[in-house]
Amino acid sequence: MSFDVAADAYDRFMGRYSLLLSPQLADLAGVRANERVLDVGCGPGALTAELVRRLGPEAVAAVDPSEPFVTAARARNSGVDVRKASAEQLPFPDQTFDTALAQLVVHFMSDPVAGLAEMARVTRRDGVVAACVWDHGGGQGPLSVFWRAARELDPMVDDESQLAGAHEGHLAELFEAAGLQEIEEASISASLEHSSFEEWWEPFTLGVGPAGSFVASLSADRQAKLRERCRALLPVAPFVITARAWAARGLA
Ligand SMILES: C[S@@+](CC[C@H](N)C(=O)[O-])C[C@H]1O[C@@H](n2cnc3c(N)ncnc32)[C@H](O)[C@@H]1O
Repeated sequence: MSFDVAADAYDRFMGRYSLLLSPQLADLAGVRANERVLDVGCGPGALTAELVRRLGPEAVAAVDPSEPFVTAARARNSGVDVRKASAEQLPFPDQTFDTALAQLVVHFMSDPVAGLAEMARVTRRDGVVAACVWDHGGGQGPLSVFWRAARELDPMVDDESQLAGAHEGHLAELFEAAGLQEIEEASISASLEHSSFEEWWEPFTLGVGPAGSFVASLSADRQAKLRERCRALLPVAPFVITARAWAARGLA
C-alpha cells in the first residue's frame, strides 16, 4: 500500500488515532534514556516525535517509503535522521540500534517477515523489536464501523481484516518466523472523541490508505450511501471511538 498523500490528510485521517498509541508502543518496547532507536514506517512522525521527547533527536532515526511523509517527518523532527526506505531493505549496518519499532506498518509491508527480520538485523543482540497493528480482524480497529458499512455496500470489499498482524496472535507468529526471541504479545488502545459525524467522516474522503482509496473509487451516489450508512451505525455525536491494536515485542 503506498501512501502518496499529504501529511496533513494523514494526520486528519489516521494520525489522530496513531498519536495516542505512540507512548504505549514506546513503553512496551521499554525505550530508555541513552538508547539509539529506529522508527520504521514513520509516516509524518507521530511515534518519531514521542521518541524524540524521550531520547532527543540525535538518538532517533526513522524511515518511510512515502516521499511526502519523509519530508513532513524531517520538517517536524529537526535533527532526526529520516530516510526514504522500506522495512524490507533498511539502509543501516547490522546492530546499529538498541530498539526498532514499527507502529501500524507491518500490515502494509510487502513482506512482513522480511521486514521484521531486517528490523532484527539492524538491532543489537538482545535489543528490542516492537510493532503494533490495529485489530481490523477482530472488528475493534478505528475503521471498523466504516468497513462494516462498506461490506454492506460491497460484500467483496477488501476490508483490511486479512492483513498481516490484524488478528490476535498473528504478530507473534510473524515475529517468530522473523527469528525474534522471547516474544511477548499485548494489546494497546486509543480512545478519541469525535465532535460531530462530519468531523469523523470528512477525512475518509481524503484518499488515505485502503479506506480512503475505497471511498475514492465509488461514484458520488454510492459514496453518499456509504456515508449515510456510517451515520446510522454510529452513536449520536459527540461519540468516542475506542480502538484496539495488537502489539508484540521480541529480542533480536
Ligand atoms: C498507517 S501509516 C503509520 C505511520 C506512523 N507509523 C504512525 O503511526 O502514524 C503506515 C505507514 O507505513 C508506511 N509503509 C508502507 N509500506 C512500508 C514498508 N514496506 N516499509 C516501511 N514502511 C512502509 C507507509 O508509507 C505509511 O507511512
